Amino acid sequence: MIELYLDTADVAQVRRFSKSLPLKGITTNPTILAKSKSGLKETLAEMQVALGGQPRFHAQVVSDTAEKMLEEARQLNELPYDMVVKVPATEQGLAAIKLMKAEGITVLATAIYSSQQGFLAALCGADYLAPYVNRIDNINGNGVAVIADLQMLLDKNELKAKILAASFKNAQQAMDVMKLGIGAITLPVDVTAQLFAHPAVAPAVEQFGHDWKEAFGDSLSFES
Ligand code: G3P
Repeated sequence: MIELYLDTADVAQVRRFSKSLPLKGITTNPTILAKSKSGLKETLAEMQVALGGQPRFHAQVVSDTAEKMLEEARQLNELPYDMVVKVPATEQGLAAIKLMKAEGITVLATAIYSSQQGFLAALCGADYLAPYVNRIDNINGNGVAVIADLQMLLDKNELKAKILAASFKNAQQAMDVMKLGIGAITLPVDVTAQLFAHPAVAPAVEQFGHDWKEAFGDSLSFES
């Protein structure tokens, strides 16, 4: 089954959606944490409570050389959670991924804008690959096509890396990539809400309530 994440540091929204969705955990990035004004440790501690169980957390390094990224990854990996270390899939990042995998750290290659970039990260041993669907679309690319190519490359080479699709502006993008058989997806809160928001649903449910009340008043189904 696809792993479903929320791409947010908003604990209230995670608490809300954890009730109605089978969330595997959350993903963050430096921008998300900077906007939330909460540090990583505080955010993860609250998310752990909000999600319960053993959620998986994806947290990104902010260092800029392979050696520093590795040191940062070791520290992230020491946190008392199921951690995945996010590393930008740059030349330094790929070098860092090779070092991290030699130490058994679980790694997500992030900031992926092309299928070849994701493929190289997978060859370096990344466990997850995060192509940025909406950001690719915004620069006149085709995020869904990039993911289709990347999934094909993974399949043909029997690479175990999972695509964790990221960066969405609407539900259509999310559904299009999920149809490709990817292993994971992370959604922003607004797009998650859109998945529930078909305009025909509420009127249909209201009609059931109205018809029931007319026939049976306040009694419940099993009382009729
Ligand atoms: O972590 C990457 C992803 O969150 C980017 O999303 O909405 O900033 O393009 P966005």
